[in-house]
Amino acid sequence: MRQHVNPLSKNFFEIDPIPPLSEVFENPNLPIHLDIGSASGDFLFELSFKNKNWNYIGIEIREKLVINANLKMKNREYKNLYFSFGNVNNFFDHTKNKPLINSITSISLNFPDPWFKKKHHKRRVIQPKFVNFLSNSMQKSSLIFIKTDVKELFKYMELTILESTKFKKLDNKDFLLNESFNPNKVQSNREKYVLLNQFEIYESIYIKI
Ligand SMILES: C[S@@+](CC[C@H](N)C(=O)[O-])C[C@H]1O[C@@H](n2cnc3c(N)ncnc32)[C@H](O)[C@@H]1O
Repeated sequence: MRQHVNPLSKNFFEIDPIPPLSEVFENPNLPIHLDIGSASGDFLFELSFKNKNWNYIGIEIREKLVINANLKMKNREYKNLYFSFGNVNNFFDHTKNKPLINSITSISLNFPDPWFKKKHHKRRVIQPKFVNFLSNSMQKSSLIFIKTDVKELFKYMELTILESTKFKKLDNKDFLLNESFNPNKVQSNREKYVLLNQFEIYESIYIKI
C-alpha cells in the first residue's frame, strides 16, 4: 500500500543540505540530473548504472524509502548517485543548496502525487513559488521533464510552469534523446504500472530560456 505524507506538515520544514558535490560524486563535473519524488530510488539506480557519464540526485519526502535506498548504496558501488530526504519545496530555501540548483542540467517529476481534492492542491510539488524559484536559479537551456497519468494534474503543472515566462515547451524535434539523462528510456516503477494497465501517459519537456 502506498502511504502519502502531507508535505505541508512541520516535520518537513527542516531539510539537510546536500554536501559539496566533490564529496558526493566521484566526478563532480558530470552533468547532474535531479529526480523529484524518487520513491524507492529504483529508477535512479538503473539510470546511474547505465549512464556513468551523468550524476543523479533523488529527493524523496518519505524518510524510510531514502534510508533503504542509502542502505542499498552501501552494499554496492555507486559513484554517481545520491539520495536526499525531505520536501523538495523547502529544499532550495537552504542557502547551502543554492549552488546545487545552478549546476543542474535537468529535473524530472515522474507521476507526482495528484492530490485530487481542490483544497489539497497546495500539497502538490509544482507550485507557482517553486516554479518561480526554478526560473530564477536554473541555468539557461536546462530542462524540466514532467510525466503523469492524471490529465488534470498534467494541465495544472503545464499551466503553472508556463506561467513563468522563463520556460517554454520543448518541441520533440528539438529534443536530443541521446544527450538526455535517460537515453535508454528507463521507466520508473509507476510508469511500468501505468503502461501495464494501459492508462494514458501525459508528458512534456520544458526548457529554461
Ligand atoms: C506517485 S509517487 C511516484 C514515484 C516515482 N517517481 C515513480 O514514478 O515511480 C510520488 C512520490 O513523490 C514523493 N513526494 C511527494 N511530495 C514530495 C515532496 N514535496 N518532496 C519530495 N518528494 C515528494 C512521494 O512520497 C512519492 O514517493
